[in-house]
Amino acid sequence: MTIKDKILEKLIKNKGKSVSGEQLASELSVSRTAIWKHIKVLKDEGYMIDSSTNIGYSLNETPDTLTPGEIKAGLKTKVIGKDIKYFKETESTNIIAREIADSVEEGTIVIAESQTAGRGRMGRKWISPEGGIWLSIILKPRIEPLYAPRITLLAGVSVAKTMQGFGLPAKIKWPNDVLIHGKKVCGILTEIGAEVDLIDYLIVGIGIDANVDTESFPEEIRDSSTSLKKEMGKEINRVEFVRKLLEEFELLYLKFKKEGFTKILEEWRNMSATIGEWVKISTQTHTIYGEAIGVDNEGALILETSDGQLEKILAGNCEHLRRT
Ligand code: BTN
Repeated sequence: MTIKDKILEKLIKNKGKSVSGEQLASELSVSRTAIWKHIKVLKDEGYMIDSSTNIGYSLNETPDTLTPGEIKAGLKTKVIGKDIKYFKETESTNIIAREIADSVEEGTIVIAESQTAGRGRMGRKWISPEGGIWLSIILKPRIEPLYAPRITLLAGVSVAKTMQGFGLPAKIKWPNDVLIHGKKVCGILTEIGAEVDLIDYLIVGIGIDANVDTESFPEEIRDSSTSLKKEMGKEINRVEFVRKLLEEFELLYLKFKKEGFTKILEEWRNMSATIGEWVKISTQTHTIYGEAIGVDNEGALILETSDGQLEKILAGNCEHLRRT
């Protein structure tokens, strides 16, 4: 954490109250002039800070940005989000995460206000304007690549639970789209770097249409997508949402490491919008129709086709069909 982030953290904790320059300087072991310079930079970034020579500095308004200082103030995690790499704009947080994965600690996150080349599943583009939440979590679990899909399901559960905490009826469409009222509000793209039998790193890329106007969505997804802003009827506090999401993710990830996958899968099943639906699954090679009757221990979807056959699908694109 930089000195500037530490100053911000202290000001956020004392929001609306004055903290003296002397106190900040002594607690952070820097000069009062250094404090003053950092405060000036924070003001330039949009923080409304009152300074008065005798009393000190007090923070009144924070800009709606996902800067590390904002997220970390009051964040209750130990691993996830301990280190946050922030970009006002970047190509794709997943690309950056891949580039730095080998040299950073597990739990580091990459977050951006907007992405110019956001990546979706199956080689699709992911539109990522300002107002959304675009982040990637770098993990280093000691598991075989075969088990990576479990972490993707875990991520879906963490997002849906966070949304439920904000009063939204979020459900999960297999494998990991989060829906509200049947419309997609979040997509997850997991990428791995691995040896044959062990994962080196795993990147969980989470994209949430938070404070995004749905009218700005491309026409082809406008009817099937929604945003948190639309569902809440007002803007959501993105910083608070990200904090809760990282906390929820950490709880599940630690549970996964300690107790295995069974309980997480149970939570996934309880939040599933897919089980019981008629679906069309498109894989890289073929298309299958059937009724989704369950999910196995690896997170594979079990389909009963119209001729009564059971099919197990490990990966693919899932569309919910209306029964006729
Ligand atoms: C999907 O197709 O549903 C998955 C979309 C994943 C988007 C997120 S946004 C943050 C991270 N960076 C990317 O480029 N993609 C993921």
